[in-house]
Amino acid sequence: GTGKFFVGGNWKCNGTKESITKLVSDLNTATLESDVDVVVAPPFVYLDFVKSSLSERIEISAQNSWVGKGGAFTGEISVEQLKDIGCSWVILGHSERRHIIGEDDQFIGKKAAYALNEGLGVIACIGELLEEREAGKTFDVCFQQLKAYADVVPSWEKIVIAYEPVWAIGTGKVATPEQAQEVHVACRDWLKKNVSAEVASKTRIIYGGSVNGGNCAELAKQEDIDGFLVGGASLKGPEFATIINSVT
Ligand code: G3H
Repeated sequence: GTGKFFVGGNWKCNGTKESITKLVSDLNTATLESDVDVVVAPPFVYLDFVKSSLSERIEISAQNSWVGKGGAFTGEISVEQLKDIGCSWVILGHSERRHIIGEDDQFIGKKAAYALNEGLGVIACIGELLEEREAGKTFDVCFQQLKAYADVVPSWEKIVIAYEPVWAIGTGKVATPEQAQEVHVACRDWLKKNVSAEVASKTRIIYGGSVNGGNCAELAKQEDIDGFLVGGASLKGPEFATIINSVT
């Protein structure tokens, strides 16, 4: 692996005050390997509550951010506001925002550049649709999405790439360790050729898509899998701890 293992929990649009209080308390009492960066991304409305009740061992991420400075943008949340409440990361380019909301590469790139310029870390998501995989376009799609970030970001120091094949998200159909490893290597190689050897060797590439307590260990053994972005299984404290502790 490259750098410190990184495990993110993307809670998506799930949870209530009651369930999130329980999840925070389970995470606060869980035993977590020390050599892992752990980040959770609650829905916006619970960010401040989670920040104030969760152990400082775990960092907080937003699931989206506005593309520029805050102002007259009804319904949006600015990077400045995220920083103000102690949020240190943002997930951008998630497939649900690309394919359900309709965000494109250029808009996502701009968001990433703005967040990084303001000092947030960015979990930059990429990944192909099933039809793109079946058409043999997996690498092309991932490289194009990577390029959209590479064209605009000021630096790669605070970027973690999350490779999430769309067909594996929320489907229970996890990529095999070999399938994930193959794409991670290809992305690292792309970074080497198109950004720099240093960025290629230092940037963590994490896998997301139906990761759970049962399949994380095999995935974590792969040379180029530097951690996970977990959806459904991150809503269960003990299972999320198992995934964090799968670091090898
Ligand atoms: O951001 C997380 C991914 O979309 C994975 O979600 O673990 O529920 O498949 P999942």
